[in-house]
Amino acid sequence: MRNTVAVILALCISAALRAQQTPAIEQRSPALEQRSPAVEKRISDLLRRMTLQEKLGQMSQSTSMQTPLSDQIRDEIRRGRWGSFLNAGGPAERAEAQRIARTESRLGIPLLFGRDVIHGYATVFPIPLGQAASWDPALTEQAARIAAIEATAEGIRWTFAPMIDISRDPRWGRIAEGLGEDPYLTSALGVAMVRGFQGDSLASPTALAATAKHYAGYGAVEAGREYNSTWIPDVLLRDVYLRPFLAVSNAGVASFMTAFNALNGVPATGNRLLLRQILRDEWKYDGLVVTDYTAIPEMIAHGYAANDSGAAFKALRAGVDMEMVSTTYFDNLKSLLGSGQIKMQSIDDAVRNILRLKFRLGLFEATTRPPGQIPVPGAREIAQRLATESVVLLKNESTVLPLAQSVGKVAVIGPLADSKVDQMGTWVMDGRTDDVVTPLAALRSRLGNERVLYAAALKNSRDTSRDGFPAALAAAQASDVVLLFLGEEQILSGEAHSRAFLDLPGAQDALVTELAKAGKPMVAIILAGRPLTFHTAAEKMSAILYAWHPGTMGGSAITDLLFGDAVPSGKLAVTFPRTVGQVPLYYAHLSTGRPPLPSDLGIPLGDPVNPVGYRSKYVDVDYTPEYPFGYGLSYTTFEYSNLVLQTSPAITVSADIANRGNRDADEIVQLYIHQKVASVARPVRELKGFRRVHLKAGERTRVNFPLPPDDLAFWNEQLQFRTEPGQFDVWIAPDSTGGIHGEFTLR
Ligand code: NOJ
Repeated sequence: MRNTVAVILALCISAALRAQQTPAIEQRSPALEQRSPAVEKRISDLLRRMTLQEKLGQMSQSTSMQTPLSDQIRDEIRRGRWGSFLNAGGPAERAEAQRIARTESRLGIPLLFGRDVIHGYATVFPIPLGQAASWDPALTEQAARIAAIEATAEGIRWTFAPMIDISRDPRWGRIAEGLGEDPYLTSALGVAMVRGFQGDSLASPTALAATAKHYAGYGAVEAGREYNSTWIPDVLLRDVYLRPFLAVSNAGVASFMTAFNALNGVPATGNRLLLRQILRDEWKYDGLVVTDYTAIPEMIAHGYAANDSGAAFKALRAGVDMEMVSTTYFDNLKSLLGSGQIKMQSIDDAVRNILRLKFRLGLFEATTRPPGQIPVPGAREIAQRLATESVVLLKNESTVLPLAQSVGKVAVIGPLADSKVDQMGTWVMDGRTDDVVTPLAALRSRLGNERVLYAAALKNSRDTSRDGFPAALAAAQASDVVLLFLGEEQILSGEAHSRAFLDLPGAQDALVTELAKAGKPMVAIILAGRPLTFHTAAEKMSAILYAWHPGTMGGSAITDLLFGDAVPSGKLAVTFPRTVGQVPLYYAHLSTGRPPLPSDLGIPLGDPVNPVGYRSKYVDVDYTPEYPFGYGLSYTTFEYSNLVLQTSPAITVSADIANRGNRDADEIVQLYIHQKVASVARPVRELKGFRRVHLKAGERTRVNFPLPPDDLAFWNEQLQFRTEPGQFDVWIAPDSTGGIHGEFTLR
């Protein structure tokens, strides 16, 4: 599958590819973006009437709202002390608080209720890294739409998603919340999420304003340690880390959230390059900028401000509109104004951005939305489809999968076979645990209780006790196939859950060794929030399905895949290393001056050997990944052939894809390019297109990819976004290492 068929097409493409300053990854969506002169006038009118205290109130977001509403908070809302609440109250409190703001506050300015609706609301979809493995923007958009309908039914109009931080470091717990390592895929899926959350118009009562976060560079935290600093050269920042942010800005995302990290020494929350120059001046962004949780006073610990006042000054100077939870704006901007260090214009600009979003959402006009049905009809089906598409088949020796419908007894073993909470993943504030279908439940309902021999073996993924091993071994011995649910609990990924080891935690490796004694075929289903390293366990497995934390319907999705009612189609959105020591490891790396040779392959994991040659590799592990970006197997095989490059009227690349097996299935076809020589060395491959195609058994189709100038351009040393003439490789491929190859020259 990974063989490269070299189709050398020495095409000379002379099309004048004009330099552009800004890549047009996504066109602006006028419905979301247009400024209304009438609204701007109403904002000006409000600004004239607002007191300074009321302005500072709008710039403040609180998380405290008791149930029922206390007299104090009622009074504060009446006085306009808060512009927004996050993760606070229930539907009744939010409705009452909004009523007070609109009818009892002096100017009737509505509140904006925000919440972390990250991968679902009541219905939980796979974690974003899992959704990314579906490579299905349309389905991802549908999932976000469902989350929006459910959340808005309970009075929430603003979510802090999508998280579009590129991360190439599985140690970082928040890799679970992102869309993988690649800017092109992250842009496509991030835009899909924005469209899903926001719908056709922000003014619709089911529109959930989206947030691009965390701006910027957070995914590159040093050593994968949470909240750590990031150092990202300008060219890399523009070419990789900022691209998804530009894409969602162009798609009309309603707000941006500043990141916790310092970027190149300057905390993102006080970073004028990011917030003023790039976001406002270059991208012309007119949405709301909110900080992350207490990020303004954290600039003191960063060593970037001496005290709250200095931190508030620097955040306002950078262009932060709203402060999340901490109160440095409210407490200090008045005296900063008095001393002349800041101008009223800066405060008015911030309040204008906040009010503009409130107007865009129709909050000034809205009556309370009647509660809708939760979960929304059809939500579980979409959750199951997305979970099914997100699972990646990593190994399938002697085609042990799919299991025969007639299989006898099945041992279901492992701490993650029946854990509803872990299955839902990292962000599940509102996820309905009772609705979750675990693999154990789904397998029992499919096969009947007698054919399912269940043994948890370990209490949770970190359990080191072997007390449960004898029962698990007995179950394995009495079965025809062992289904092992391994991985990591939900609590091991997400915010503030970085790991320095990527192995299966607890006694899971020992459990695998113990169960191997039964001599039965073993299938691992790994549930995790990040790429794990599990080389030794993998060697003992006949098949491996990587299921992430798949959400509410994960158990049903996994069961369908195990029995062939569905065919695996997910592909990795992130590279899987062999060992943590290879991190950061990603497909779009540069070539070194001494690249490894094929003879450098195969160095075993662990003990150092003494290989020959002064080339870029390790002496104690193969330098390649365990599983590359874009990789995923199917129950069928696909053949790639007949790559054709066309240059007129525009560059397009096409190839035939044929389903050579006897099952209908989806294939994710990927387009990669590489510019051979440029003023800044280019990655060995870069994703520039993908398509999920459905092919019946034996069917063939032709897949066409346009290659517009922006996809050949990059940020040069002068920080200009330009194409450069030269030779390019191009591949249409099943993953980032193989495919069919062509070449062209851009003159
Ligand atoms: C901190 C997290 O970094 C951010 O992603 C989240 O939206 C806020 N807390 C609010 O919960």
